[in-house]
Amino acid sequence: AFRNKLEFFAAAKASSSFPAPNLPEIAFAGRSNVGKSSLLNALTRQWGVVRTSDKPGLTQTINFFQLGKKLCLVDLPGYGFAYAKEEVKEAWEELVKEYVSTRVGLKRVCLLIDTKWGMKARDYELIELMERSKTKYQIVLTKTDTVFPIDVARRATQIEESLLQNKSVVQPLMMVSSKSGAGIRSLRTVLANIARF
Ligand code: GTP
Ligand code: MG
Repeated sequence: AFRNKLEFFAAAKASSSFPAPNLPEIAFAGRSNVGKSSLLNALTRQWGVVRTSDKPGLTQTINFFQLGKKLCLVDLPGYGFAYAKEEVKEAWEELVKEYVSTRVGLKRVCLLIDTKWGMKARDYELIELMERSKTKYQIVLTKTDTVFPIDVARRATQIEESLLQNKSVVQPLMMVSSKSGAGIRSLRTVLANIARF
């Protein structure tokens, strides 16, 4: 499934320009710089189609990519510390919220959390919204190569416990590094099963 060719399909700054939901869709959400675009590249092993950057806030539109016309992968703009004006940031956040709570054909939202920094207020906010709108989501800890393995496990347990306190029914956490490749294969398998092909 993930061997299919990845092609840019559409970019949207408003819900009116979302493409028609013709394919099962999996979206990647999370704070700015958490590694959303890099994960898309690692999952598809196709570098250069999705742009990544050191500078937070590079992805400023909702970008839709098709994988062999079978699955749509969606790179969401990051929330948090973008180098942008306050009004612009708020507009992106509203767009992301609208997308995750209303999108037809959305099979799963991967909510990316930087292993080193953990969950922040905005992450909990998005989780709450997804709970309310009954959007299925999967937490993915990213950049596991940046901390000691023992800390990855410790972080994962902390996050799982805090989510249980919020009474969310969550899928088991996944842990990945787009840099080392750790956990990428497992995530690919999980997502391919979700998309059912
Ligand atoms: P926005 O588009 O700004 O929301 O960011 P993003 O979430 O798409 O992050 P992006 O993939 O552009 O990565 C941000 C930075 O983190 C880049 O400098 C990447 O090289 C780096 N990065 C991404 N994944 C990893 C990883 O697994 N390990 C390490 N060490 N660095 C990573
Ligand atoms: Mg990005």
